[in-house]
Amino acid sequence: MSEIALTQAPAHARHGSNIGQPLTRRDGVLKVTGAARYAADNHPPGMLHAVLAISRIARGRVAFLDVAAAGAHPGVVAVMTPANAPKLAVDPEVKTHPFVFRIDVLQNDRVRYAHQPIAVVIAETLEAATEGAALLAPRYETEPAQTGLDGDDGFVPPVLGAGQPAVLRHGDVAAGLAAAARRIEATYATPAQYHNAMEPHAIVAAWDGGRLLIDTPSQGLVLARARIAELFGLEPGHVLIRSPFLGGGFGSKGLLTGPQVLGIMAARLVGRPVKLVLRREQMFGPVGHRAPTRQTLRLGTDADGRLTALDHHTRTATSRFDDFIEPCGGVSHTLYAAAAIATTHEAVRRDTGTPNFMRAPGEASGSAALESAIDEMADACGMDPLAFRLHNYAEVEPVSGKPFSSKALRACYAEGAARFGWARRPRAPRQMRDAGGRLVGWGVGTATFPALMFQAEARAVLRRDGTAIMESGAHDMGQGAWTALAQIAADALGLEIGQVEFRAGASDLPDAGIAGGSAHTATAGIAIHGAGADAIARLAALAVGDERSPLFGAGNAGVVARGGRLHRSDDAARSESYADILARAGLAEIQGQGRSAADPAAQTRYAMHAHGAVFAEVTVDPALGQMRVTRLLGAFAAGRLINPRLVRSQYYGGMIWGVSFALHERAVMDPRTGRPMNPNFAAYHVPVNADIPAIDAILVEEHDPHVNALGIKGVGEIGITGTAAAIANAIWHATGVRPRRFPVMPHEVVALMA
Ligand code: MOS
Repeated sequence: MSEIALTQAPAHARHGSNIGQPLTRRDGVLKVTGAARYAADNHPPGMLHAVLAISRIARGRVAFLDVAAAGAHPGVVAVMTPANAPKLAVDPEVKTHPFVFRIDVLQNDRVRYAHQPIAVVIAETLEAATEGAALLAPRYETEPAQTGLDGDDGFVPPVLGAGQPAVLRHGDVAAGLAAAARRIEATYATPAQYHNAMEPHAIVAAWDGGRLLIDTPSQGLVLARARIAELFGLEPGHVLIRSPFLGGGFGSKGLLTGPQVLGIMAARLVGRPVKLVLRREQMFGPVGHRAPTRQTLRLGTDADGRLTALDHHTRTATSRFDDFIEPCGGVSHTLYAAAAIATTHEAVRRDTGTPNFMRAPGEASGSAALESAIDEMADACGMDPLAFRLHNYAEVEPVSGKPFSSKALRACYAEGAARFGWARRPRAPRQMRDAGGRLVGWGVGTATFPALMFQAEARAVLRRDGTAIMESGAHDMGQGAWTALAQIAADALGLEIGQVEFRAGASDLPDAGIAGGSAHTATAGIAIHGAGADAIARLAALAVGDERSPLFGAGNAGVVARGGRLHRSDDAARSESYADILARAGLAEIQGQGRSAADPAAQTRYAMHAHGAVFAEVTVDPALGQMRVTRLLGAFAAGRLINPRLVRSQYYGGMIWGVSFALHERAVMDPRTGRPMNPNFAAYHVPVNADIPAIDAILVEEHDPHVNALGIKGVGEIGITGTAAAIANAIWHATGVRPRRFPVMPHEVVALMA
């Protein structure tokens, strides 16, 4: 069986709409009992274990590997190096698609970044492969490596991460700044961050002649299949990827990575199935990261506190050999009604792996800087930071002039402020202390994320026994796609969720598009909605044209599907079951197809974004600088919510990333060697339970008639935006010290307070 299917009895006995119900995860029991099978849990017969050897230099070449010593170790079956690596059908340096990134898969002895794979040892056991890799004892010819953002070698890239322009000007920023009554200028620094999903990248690859069976986590099955087929010269239909569960992706599993390709090459080399799992430190190099930035914000207001100019300049880094430019300026295009806006980006090339999409790419770092600067500007105007934001509220999208398809941000501000108690906030900093003498501060940040949609397909089958199948190769990386998409399927088919078998997580199903850009529910959901509607329309056509049916003459638009029956819209008492309709037509089943894509006409007319407001309370120990988030509240508006329980969970997750951005996460590169100095969870900090306070999310009602047929916006990434700055702004409010470097470090706060 290739596909993975989930069915379950409904959590609540109920009729009517599945959409909007707070169902628990349908895969929850599988996960908590350990029955959910992740990629690395697959052990096909005869499987060998592969272990990567990675480079300890950031630039140069591998001069020597002790292949003989590794190969002689008991249990080692093969050592794969550039000398014997299977040939690929296309050169991986050739960009065959804008979203194909150059990968390092043992094509030569060159080293382009630290932790680049330089060999693969394949053995009967993981222990033997690990020991074999250690015995390789590489020697290098080392060239000086460059890290960091300093230098005079910045260039303006042709395009940013997802194809946005690097430079965008609306109005005359120089004139706006010159005419301003008040101005601020500040530079904010954000660090390199690594995705570090709980589940590292892993692959189990098994060749069967010219066919390939792969278990690997993927946020984009059909793209990954196409890339694998291209690299190995296969028909896409001869590659089957199974990815029922991901232990997190965060963007790093959106595109196929080098280590996954190496796993497939290793299996080909030895002619047996091979499993390759990255060690934690191997996540810091070949599988992408969020690039560091330095963002300079220049803002001006008139005497009345209205923004006359907003200038947002980003300096960031990409790799020496490929381009991914963090698109930080996007948030400044949409949030505030400044008379003039300019966003510019420049990049430098450094000896690192290529950066990549990482949760709210652009918006996370960009909003950390913009929302800090807005706070500084509010203070310069002597205004409450929330009042300042409302004073400069964008009624239309400033740079495009388009109306918003919907924008309930005012309600987010109002509902969040009311629940947080914002009205009691003293305007001046350093006014509040807790019982232990710690300084207390309150901050706010605005959250925003575009409402995107990609292309997808789905197929529905209604069966005579009253059950149905819905197929779309969707990806559940922990966000709840198994559940939310099945809810959409059940409603589209007029059935209870327990009557619908939902098939997802495999590459031989209809393409569900990429699970990224917070767009998966909208993308796959609209295709599923369409497939259900198509199946129902075909069923209705059988009934309304048949005088033996109680629905005869109702017309296609004149029936509704509910509870496994079609009802006349004008007379609900006249109905017929799906089973009876199919039986009379002599059919065992009826199929429907659905597709989704963004509507270009609606996109031309409207700006489409989700919004939110995040409120944070922090305490700061005045002697130690120790900072604690003690309260965190987000109010978000993101169109129709398919499952409020899962949406809340997404907001919490995003906000926790925001805490991480503000106070914990950073990769430290050794400037002498270009190596990450903290490639482990002891030193690369992410929040633990003790770091996460009372956290709350308000689900603000929003109806969007334009964004797509179901009014769905994304909820996956918006929580991180706004949160980092809300915390930094709260630290300022507690201490009077303005943090401009993320993560905010205790010693810096103490030094600045002194
Ligand atoms: Mo995301 S960075 O779109 O997985």
